Amino acid sequence: MSFLLGIDIGTSGTKTVLFDEMGNTIASSVGEYPLYQPNIGWAEQDPEDWWKATCNTIKEVIYKSGVDASEIKGVGLSGQMHGAVLLDKDYNVLRKSIIWCDQRSSAECNEITSLIGKERLIEITANPALTGFTASKILWVKNNEPDVYSKVAKILLPKDYIRFKLTGEFATEVSDASGMQLMDIPGRKWSDEVLDKLGIEKSMLGKLYESQEVTGKVNKEASSLTGLKEGTIVVGGAGDQAAGAIGNGIVKPGVVSSTIGTSGVVFAFSENVSIDPKGRVHTFCHAVPNTWHIMGVTQGAGLSLKWFRDNFCIEEIRTAELMKVDPYMLMDKEAEKVAAGCSGLIYLPYLMGERTPHLDPNAKGVFFGLSAKHEKPDMIRAVMEGVVYSLKDCLEIIKEMGVNVSEVRASGGGGKSPLWRQMQADIFGTEITTINSSEGPALGVAILAGVGAGIYSSVMEACDKVISVKTKQQADMALNSKYNKYYEIYKHLYTSLKTDFADVSSIL
Ligand code: XUL
Repeated sequence: MSFLLGIDIGTSGTKTVLFDEMGNTIASSVGEYPLYQPNIGWAEQDPEDWWKATCNTIKEVIYKSGVDASEIKGVGLSGQMHGAVLLDKDYNVLRKSIIWCDQRSSAECNEITSLIGKERLIEITANPALTGFTASKILWVKNNEPDVYSKVAKILLPKDYIRFKLTGEFATEVSDASGMQLMDIPGRKWSDEVLDKLGIEKSMLGKLYESQEVTGKVNKEASSLTGLKEGTIVVGGAGDQAAGAIGNGIVKPGVVSSTIGTSGVVFAFSENVSIDPKGRVHTFCHAVPNTWHIMGVTQGAGLSLKWFRDNFCIEEIRTAELMKVDPYMLMDKEAEKVAAGCSGLIYLPYLMGERTPHLDPNAKGVFFGLSAKHEKPDMIRAVMEGVVYSLKDCLEIIKEMGVNVSEVRASGGGGKSPLWRQMQADIFGTEITTINSSEGPALGVAILAGVGAGIYSSVMEACDKVISVKTKQQADMALNSKYNKYYEIYKHLYTSLKTDFADVSSIL
């Protein structure tokens, strides 16, 4: 029997899952770690935490499954995108990684735009300069920590640092590397022009592969730390969104996914490079050769509900502990009691600024429309609805770009909640489906590992074999028209508050 291992280095933790060839989960393990926020809008993590969590979760999965390590035919890596891991010449980590949701690099975005030119930048990298992307984070270190920058020998993405620890290879793949803003996206290669203009040496970057290609093999040291067999192949893998899309079967036109993880993403497959001229959604290489994808990203999706849970739901957390259930399940029950629209309470999920559609690092979270009648359950529901309004913003732009949307597949932690899925059906006005596996990114990269190991002939073939639709929820169109009225106000609130957000940021 052959097994495949998918490892997803997420923001709240690393999830490692062992699958059989049919995509059935055999064993899984999660290792959590902290997020450091030294300033408002800053976000950092320690790459050593990711590596420890990777080793521990691999060991646990092998132990729990009882599978002999020699039966694991390939490893796929997925992870949070955009973070910069900086290594010195001895390959030691120089500073904590500045990760995807960090917003400190506005000045560097202006610098990138003026060095390359706004139109040329979009022509090459398919996107405008964004604080979320790696290039501006690298320049921030160059401008603000010159001592650190002078020692940089290698720049890796989070999952590619784990690849280095597992195999000793400096490599990356097109889907995740697209989010560094250093690639020629139509050509699927590093852009000499961008690297030259930003003064970044190509030798600092990993070798660029397609996502299903073998990039290296587990080395002796990693084998002793993880229990994997020395020589096990490690394929390119994918950034968490492209990986999650493969794990949801988003490998052909028509079906889009809506993922509520820490961030929220609406993801559409594309056979060609299609760019939003306003840059509100990202165009990146997909993890399927010769294809691309478009995605809208909302920064604070699951993050918003987690923030609310951790700060205001101590009671629910304690009760859930006693009942041995997930606190989110109890929060769902409270939110379920509240009527759609929360009697006018509207939440803007901009806790970490916003990407789609505003591209505004200064945007802030807002509860609007509070009255003395509102209680905690209204606030929980308002957070959930606000996140879905922000996903609707993403979906609307993708539709505007001419993408045909025949089905929306919900996934991510938030996709497990039937209530949150129903809100998506009602707010989007479309049927929402889920598939037979909820492992998303881990399954996606296990599929890529299976292609690399020769178990499947292609990603498409693997998805056909492994993925099927499991649940369908229809939109309630009466609720859809009610929600549409609130959605209009939701959209207008950002416009009304835009300058106030900037003013507050200027005095922080
Ligand atoms: C995608 C993005 C996030 C992170 C963390 O562009 O920034 O989805 O990958 O999940």
